[in-house]
Amino acid sequence: MATFDLLLLPGDGIGTEVMAEVKRIVTWLNARGTVTFNLEEDLVGGAAYDVHGVAVADATVDKALKADAVILGAVGGPKWDGVPYEARPESGLLRLRKDLELFANLRPAICYPALADGSSLKREVVEGLDIMIVRELTGGTYFGEPKEMVTLQNGEKRAVDTQIYTTHEIERITRIAFDLARKRSNKVHSADKRNVMISGVLWNEVVTAVHSAEYSDVELHHILADNCAMQLVRWPKQFDVIVTDNLFGDILSDEASMLTGSLGMLPSASLGAEDDNGKRRAMYEPVHGTAPDIAGQSKANPIAMITSFAMALRYSFDLGGEADIIEKAIAKVLDQGLRTGDIMQEGCQEVSTTAMGDAILSEMDAVAG
Ligand code: IPM
Ligand code: MG
Repeated sequence: MATFDLLLLPGDGIGTEVMAEVKRIVTWLNARGTVTFNLEEDLVGGAAYDVHGVAVADATVDKALKADAVILGAVGGPKWDGVPYEARPESGLLRLRKDLELFANLRPAICYPALADGSSLKREVVEGLDIMIVRELTGGTYFGEPKEMVTLQNGEKRAVDTQIYTTHEIERITRIAFDLARKRSNKVHSADKRNVMISGVLWNEVVTAVHSAEYSDVELHHILADNCAMQLVRWPKQFDVIVTDNLFGDILSDEASMLTGSLGMLPSASLGAEDDNGKRRAMYEPVHGTAPDIAGQSKANPIAMITSFAMALRYSFDLGGEADIIEKAIAKVLDQGLRTGDIMQEGCQEVSTTAMGDAILSEMDAVAG
């Protein structure tokens, strides 16, 4: 029987609550006897800062490098507003992405039929929506140097972030997007700001070159990132795969999440390069944050966390059948009208995080037979 090591990093706020539901799903899968997951748990974000004075300890990064996959909840919160910039909770997440070289972030925005009326957009705009945002994750403004705040001679301050991309960084994320498109509707939109940024000019050139050399069978559109933001709410179904840089990808994926009903619905997979055995380093995390306003009250929607784990089953462990069971169970629970607060609709029943987990597990029993 296949055995895999998972490192769970629940993080802060609702991160720990939604991770608890993933643990129950792992227990369910282990009990089924077709695969064994060994779980190890550790701290990241503010939780790590409180204990170690850093947002992720070196030993935790080592464990992450050795694990078959990392499952992460969320990091951050007002409690750590005053900590030094280098030690802020988000820096733990960024270090993990960088040290594990997880350059490709896949953020699928799928609108479950039962939630089509729950979106702030009209049903016909979002019904049947299935788009994939491919966000570059280890370059660009997030990591470019210099990144600093200095005091000028006149006493004024000046802050600098740097947007940097090299050819190979753009090539590898572009290939991920085209490969995915071939398995989907064969269409890629590449979003940049070449009208104001020289890094956007390079982005555009490299995507075009990779397309004509290796992927001319895929339909390619270049779109300015601001126009992409607008088109996402005007008529999102024109998109299949959107490939973009780290910062635009952060923003566009939050926007896309609302097409699915709630930020609490959007999972993500962060993948590294393939090694000689065809394996990729990987970390799976929901797109949402720690939601300090509802933390500790069992109000959080665990679905993005659970579907992030389903992405792990699919992308890291080739367990597509198990992922199907989870996703079908979620669709059924939503059909039955069970809702956490973020996706609550008239005529539905509002349930807690754990009750949502209970319902999904019991539907998994039914789906698996
Ligand atoms: C995300 C988050 C992170 C990001 C934060 C928490 C650093 O917003 O994963 O989208 O900006 O990448
Ligand atoms: Mg974000």
